[in-house]
Amino acid sequence: MDFGSFRAVDGCSFSVAKGSITGLVGPNGAGKTTVFNMIAGALRPSGGRIAYRGEDITALAPDRRFHKGAVRTFQIPHEFHHLSVIENLMVVAPAQPGETLLSNWFSRARVRKAEAETSRRAWEALEFLELTHVAHQRAGQISGGQKKLLELGRTIMTDAELVLLDEPAAGVNRTLLRKLEEKIEYLNRERGYTFILIEHDMEMIERLCEPVICMAEGKVLIEGSFQTVRSDPRVLEAYLGERQGAAT
Ligand SMILES: Nc1ncnc2c1ncn2[C@@H]1O[C@H](COP(=O)(O)OP(=O)(O)OP(=O)(O)O)[C@@H](O)[C@H]1O
Ligand SMILES: [Mg+2]
Repeated sequence: MDFGSFRAVDGCSFSVAKGSITGLVGPNGAGKTTVFNMIAGALRPSGGRIAYRGEDITALAPDRRFHKGAVRTFQIPHEFHHLSVIENLMVVAPAQPGETLLSNWFSRARVRKAEAETSRRAWEALEFLELTHVAHQRAGQISGGQKKLLELGRTIMTDAELVLLDEPAAGVNRTLLRKLEEKIEYLNRERGYTFILIEHDMEMIERLCEPVICMAEGKVLIEGSFQTVRSDPRVLEAYLGERQGAAT
C-alpha cells in the first residue's frame, strides 16, 4: 500500500485460520490499521492480493465484502449518535424489504414481519451484551466501554463470519473490558466467528489470541504463539526502535 511515495505496507503476507482469534500487534505506524482497511475494502492496495475463503476479493467493493460475511467493526458513525442504542442495532440489519418503496406498497405484511424479526434480533443482541438498561438512551450518551459493546452488537446483527477489531480496549475500563473479552470469546467459540484483533493491550492479546502476528515497518516480522512472539528479540527491537524513532 503506497501513500504517495511512502510505502506503508509492503511484503506483508499472512493468512488467518477460520475459527481463530488472530492477534495483530506491532509498534505505532507498523501498518496494522492500513492492513485492516485493505481487508475491509476501504483502501485499494497498490499491489498484491487479498483472498477470502480462497476467492480473490482485492477488487470487490466494501459492501460486497460485507455481504460475503467479512465485516469490520465500524465505529458508530457520527450521525447515529442521536439514535437510541436499540435503533443503532436495528439499522444495520442486512437487506430489509422495507427499504424499497415498491415493497412498501405491495407487501406491507412482509415488511412488518421483517421489521418484527429485526426488532427481536436487536433485543436479543442487547440482552447478550447486557445493555438492555440503556436500550433507549442515545448512543452518544453511553460510556466508551458500552459503545464498544454496541459496536460488537452491530456485527452480531449482520451475521458476520469474520470480524476485524481495531483497538477495542482503547479507553475502556477494566470491568467492561473483561465483559468485552467474554463476549468475543463466546462469539468465537459458540457461533464460530473468526476475529482479527489489533491491540496494544498485551494482556488482552495474551488472553484471547492464538496465533499472534507481529508487524513492523509494513512487514510481518513473526507469527506464532503469544509466548513465541513476546520472547523474540526482533519484536523487542521493533518496539524499542519505535521509541527511539519517536524521541529523535
Ligand atoms: N491515508 C494515509 N496517508 C498517508 N500516510 C498514511 C495514511 N494512513 C496511514 N499512513 C501511514 O502509514 C503508516 C502505517 O499506518 P497505520 O495507521 O496502518 O499504522 P498502525 O500500525 O495502525 O499504527 P497504530 O498502532 O499507531 O494505530 C504510518 O506511517 C502512517 O503515518
Ligand atoms: Mg492503527
